[in-house]
Amino acid sequence: MKLDPDLIHYLTKEHFRVLTAIEMGMKNHEYVPVPLIESLAALKRSNTYKIIQLLLKHKLVMHYNKSYDGYALTYMGYDYLALKAFMKRGTLTRVGIKIGVGKESDIYLCEGGVKEEDKDEEPVKGERFKNPVVVKFARLGRTSFRTVKNNRDYLKGRSAQSWLYLSRIASLKEFAFMKALYNKNFPTPVPIDSNRHGIVMSFIDAYPMSQIKELENPKKVYAELLEQVIRLAEYGLVHGDFNEFNLLLDEDEKITIIDFPQMTSTNHPQAQFYFERDVKCLQDFFMKRFGLKFEGIPILEQDIEKKEDLDKEIKASGFVKEELGDDLKEFDQIHEHFLNKEEVEDEESESDDEEDIEEESKQEDEEKVPKLINNNTTVDVNEEETKEEIINKELESSSDNDNESEENQEYKKSRPKKEKKDKTVEKKKKEKLVINEDYVKEKAKKQFSSNFKKERSKRNKNKDKKVMKANENIKDYFVE
Ligand SMILES: Nc1ncnc2c1ncn2[C@@H]1O[C@H](COP(=O)(O)OP(=O)(O)OP(=O)(O)O)[C@@H](O)[C@H]1O
Ligand SMILES: [Mg+2]
Repeated sequence: MKLDPDLIHYLTKEHFRVLTAIEMGMKNHEYVPVPLIESLAALKRSNTYKIIQLLLKHKLVMHYNKSYDGYALTYMGYDYLALKAFMKRGTLTRVGIKIGVGKESDIYLCEGGVKEEDKDEEPVKGERFKNPVVVKFARLGRTSFRTVKNNRDYLKGRSAQSWLYLSRIASLKEFAFMKALYNKNFPTPVPIDSNRHGIVMSFIDAYPMSQIKELENPKKVYAELLEQVIRLAEYGLVHGDFNEFNLLLDEDEKITIIDFPQMTSTNHPQAQFYFERDVKCLQDFFMKRFGLKFEGIPILEQDIEKKEDLDKEIKASGFVKEELGDDLKEFDQIHEHFLNKEEVEDEESESDDEEDIEEESKQEDEEKVPKLINNNTTVDVNEEETKEEIINKELESSSDNDNESEENQEYKKSRPKKEKKDKTVEKKKKEKLVINEDYVKEKAKKQFSSNFKKERSKRNKNKDKKVMKANENIKDYFVE
């Protein structure tokens, strides 16, 4: 799901009041009851209703109507709240395009605040923005079913709002580390702003090292990178994900380190393990790609002299204290989530009985995985809309990542069979239909055909019309 760059400019104060009311209400409710939204937003019922419908249409909120009528923020709703805050502070002026999708993050290239004197300047030739910045949104919980299953203990009892909360902590942590490292002259992007689960940082015009096939002097680059790993340890830190995807290299072979939510203290019981893993990652890459040879890996306690305890300083910093007070439990826990995620996935890809796991996870998923990760969408079934049509609609909306495959025909045949297994869907068929969007997404990604593409583009045309209509409605609310 991509952000609509224009929507932020159409949403009015009232829309944000309702979004904020839902955010506040989510502290105590998984889905915030409508009367509470009305009172928190201090808006009239009819007005609130109209606004909610629009937010729903744009997928900024999700609806629950089993035992009562309630709404919760989606990640997208949370995104717009953060974007609004950035804009208010002037650290962001325009939302741009998605340039990266991490396992648990989305990265957007945006326009950052422009100084008054530069307002009339044109962007540098070939550049999209005058002051390009990157916005990184954390999306904790956006993992595969199997990862979710294996992380079960960690996930226990997590509700939608707690995923937003954890994403906020991960982002706060990443920003705090980036700031501290930047201040110590580590080659990181410039940390500009942080709000909720989002970070604004400078855009680095460089390539991830994974994409670089040739280097003028690989030994020199390796030495520089190793020096950074060692320097981090001297400051009491282990990056924890120091690989070719998190290291950017520009035309002049200048390095930039990114991606910090999993940063770990050298006091962590497994610090040596993570440290070794970082160095090994680097060595493996330079060995495979550039034929370099290595002997041994430094030992933290033996070979590295700690100069500063940056980890402690960060936790004690005003910025972190202001957000979390003394309760740093989640802050400390968050790196476990990031550090162990990859291992779980690797382990599983070697598993023999993937099918079983998937099947089992699907069932568990319904019971345990919070709605926000799972994105189970409750959809009203009107008389003309068949289940087939609704699932196709979901496929459309989940096909951002259209990975074509010839297997789609097979999928089409197999889909009804799988649905039959889903008792919940069968049970609610009469009035409401619960669609496991992630399940559908997984399938859609794997099994997409040209047939379906044609169908989709036809539907998209209709959808565009609907969006235009919605935008017209928004214009009614447009102040300024
Ligand atoms: N400041 C930046 N400037 C330019 N590109 C960036 C910047 N930050 C991130 N990116 C791009 O976005 C990609 C993902 O960023 P990042 O590694 O921080 O996210 P992630 O969620 O950890 O991703 P993954 O889980 O795949 O490691 C990077 O590989 C890089 O290409
Ligand atoms: Mg990364």
